[in-house]
Amino acid sequence: MARMSTAPDRNIPGVAPVDRIKRQPLMLGLFLPLQSGAWSPSMAPRGTRADFEYNAECAIRAEELGFDLVFGLAQWLGKGGYGGKMKFRGEAMDPLLVTSGLAPLTKNVLLISTVHVLYAWHPVLLAKFGATIDRMSGGRWGLNVVTGYKPSEFKMFGMPEMIEHDRRYDMAAEFSDIMLKLWSEDENLTFEGHFYKAENAFVDPKPVYGKCTMVNAGSSGAGIEYAAKYSDLIFITSPAGADPRRACEALPAHNKKIKETGRKYGREVKTIINPHVICRDTEKEAQAAKQAIIDHQDPVAADNFATSIMGGGKASWSATTRDMWVVGGNVHLVGTPEQIVDWFVKLKNAGCDGVQVNFYDFLPDIEYFGKGVLPLMKQAGLRTE
Ligand SMILES: Cc1cc2nc3c(=O)[nH]c(=O)nc-3n(C[C@H](O)[C@H](O)[C@H](O)COP(=O)(O)O)c2cc1C
Repeated sequence: MARMSTAPDRNIPGVAPVDRIKRQPLMLGLFLPLQSGAWSPSMAPRGTRADFEYNAECAIRAEELGFDLVFGLAQWLGKGGYGGKMKFRGEAMDPLLVTSGLAPLTKNVLLISTVHVLYAWHPVLLAKFGATIDRMSGGRWGLNVVTGYKPSEFKMFGMPEMIEHDRRYDMAAEFSDIMLKLWSEDENLTFEGHFYKAENAFVDPKPVYGKCTMVNAGSSGAGIEYAAKYSDLIFITSPAGADPRRACEALPAHNKKIKETGRKYGREVKTIINPHVICRDTEKEAQAAKQAIIDHQDPVAADNFATSIMGGGKASWSATTRDMWVVGGNVHLVGTPEQIVDWFVKLKNAGCDGVQVNFYDFLPDIEYFGKGVLPLMKQAGLRTE
């Protein structure tokens, strides 16, 4: 049985949790390891697991250390996942259900679940599920709306082929319109759209703060337009791959474009990037830990992973090479606690409003991060508590 968080209650009466965390100079999230192998197709030794107890412990420790959010990605792969000896990502827990399990165990962290809204979902159903988890968590549930980028997933859900890219975002927009109406309006909803219909639909109880937190992770023109209209937070990638120097050169323009598009619709969209953090007492040790991940790679899994992601999510991952995929995530921050915080400052200066970190060996790495990095983030003015 997973234990309950011992963190003090950081909620502010009348303030939606998403607005509370936006007050941080740099928001801090944790990318949960819901898939076996998490982000790294490597067999270097580690204790990371994909089961609920392990993920709950990661989320609870992150909350106790003061993280703002935890996030789970969603994927649909056939038997053995990306394959190789390790059957990379062959096991994958569903983020929506995991976040609902985390709701009563935590107090402060936003619980963000990815949902592929075009795979067998109707907006009335997701509006109901979302409002329920939002209530269970005191307004802390967030929905990462994704439209899918793998042809195999569309086929898994009975569609003969992928829906065209920009049309997927048109569908997501209509889907979101219906959910937002169900969350905010106090009358039965009858809706006849291009893609969805509903007659006398109603959701009660509503989300605690009028709507659930909306998130998106697109990078294309259509993805950014969608995010600008609907999302509170947008998960971004580095347009220049995993090297943080190059990322920090490319990110200001990318962040500017997203925020300007948001302002066009009168909205302030916040961006969060997900660095893979490898932090040790010395730079030499951190580099050695990174090299061990690469040296112990599962070459078959790494090939399949890189080909699949780069083949589909072109707008987000075009500059990430195969070797970068062995470590995983995007933007690799490797070094001492001081060096990691220095990169966080640079990412903030490049226009990122938050970082959502992933690790290789989650529980010990979270612990080390809490002791070594978080106090320096506070000293650097990146965190207020
Ligand atoms: C941090 C992050 C998390 C993502 N999580 C998922 C996910 O869980 N499932 C998924 O199918 N796509 C996921 N994506 C991919 C995006 O939804 C999107 O398809 C991709 O970035 C390509 O952008 P585009 O749709 O604008 O072309 C994620 C992207 C990022 C940057």
